[in-house]
Amino acid sequence: QATKTKVSYTLTAQTSQMAFKPGTKTKTLGYNGNYLGPVLQVRRGQTLQIKTRNQLTRPTTFHWHGAIVPGKDDGGPHQVVAPGQSKTVAFKIQQPAATLWYHPHAMGSTAKQVYQGLAGLIYVRDKQSDQLHLPDKYGVNDFPVVIQDRSFTKNNQFDYDAAYNSDGTKGNTLLINGTFNPYIRVTTKLVRLRFVNGSNARNYQLKLSNGQAMQQIATDGGLLSKPVAVKTLKLSPGERGEVIIDAAKFKAGQPVTVKNGQQVVLTLRSAQKKVSDGQLPANLLSVPTVNTTNAQHQTLAFNGMGTMVSINHQQYSKDRIDLTAQQDRPQVWTLKNTGTMMGGMIHPFHLHGVQFRILSINGQAPPANLQGLKDTVALDPDSTVKIAFNFKDRGIYMYHCHNLEHEENGMMGQIKVS
Ligand code: C2O
Ligand code: CU
Ligand code: CU
Repeated sequence: QATKTKVSYTLTAQTSQMAFKPGTKTKTLGYNGNYLGPVLQVRRGQTLQIKTRNQLTRPTTFHWHGAIVPGKDDGGPHQVVAPGQSKTVAFKIQQPAATLWYHPHAMGSTAKQVYQGLAGLIYVRDKQSDQLHLPDKYGVNDFPVVIQDRSFTKNNQFDYDAAYNSDGTKGNTLLINGTFNPYIRVTTKLVRLRFVNGSNARNYQLKLSNGQAMQQIATDGGLLSKPVAVKTLKLSPGERGEVIIDAAKFKAGQPVTVKNGQQVVLTLRSAQKKVSDGQLPANLLSVPTVNTTNAQHQTLAFNGMGTMVSINHQQYSKDRIDLTAQQDRPQVWTLKNTGTMMGGMIHPFHLHGVQFRILSINGQAPPANLQGLKDTVALDPDSTVKIAFNFKDRGIYMYHCHNLEHEENGMMGQIKVS
């Protein structure tokens, strides 16, 4: 059966409202709806065409986080869609199956627009990953889990300002795919969860309440070479991690939860009978490597806290190109989290337009579950992370801390690839 060469979507950024708690109305933003947006589904080799529309009263942009796209289609701060305007972008998907996401990136309003609900997922599929027969039935044995922390006022409105501190917004309520306290009915022996940290600033350490390990199969940009058993899945803002959970022994009436510390993220409720559907092979797909011969080297120092954050002692300016690179020339970047004033904090480094490999963390090989394609990596206080990649397209791309308040406070730079 022939595959279409193009898939088309319309995304309308709009204001709306949502009853997160029954009988209440919270003002929200969403794409084509109340909160978050549709999952854009595309296959490798297809062109993804999106008509983007802004029905907000403020400028926005449409950024495809993790997508390998020409700079002009990347939806960074330069590609504003003004209120009432629309713009169509189209790019060919030339990267492996992965869970990517999209969100706004307009200077000064990224953090707040994401907080109010503007974000959505992109599922890339391909032939190689289909042949593995992993669980992939959406809503049956394959579930997105977008994790966002929110604060609410007494009147059940999002309370960005209360949750805001200069080091990032953190709320005490978790919304999962835009819902409170959700559960999944487990009807299959294997369950795939695609975790997305869509929070502005919170880091998560996810565990199963029964102590069982999860089998991590994918990172930000695609499948790992083999499943990695993880007892704790760490995700900093912007990162994704896909896991398979072996639910064969889960008993009906004994829910298992995914927890972050004491907080329940998601409840898994087993059906009486579970079917075999999908498998977990011992080997997945080989992860593309980067030949670093003749690489161009850059060092970036992430420094500071609160509003005093910088990269290489500079804060973002839209009028300044910070770095340049050549298309297809290997890049090796050394990322340092410097400045441990009061213990320091994690800066989740994110680079647009590429998927990178982590070469080392503090001089050591990265743990097995970080040996996949990545577009975001947590820089722990005082740590040094080396990454390698090459730009497959040209244009201007952003790199920044994905703590969205740090980003808004200037922890961002731009690179011109020619
Ligand atoms: Cu997820 Cu520059 O963004
Ligand atoms: Cu991005
Ligand atoms: Cu930061």
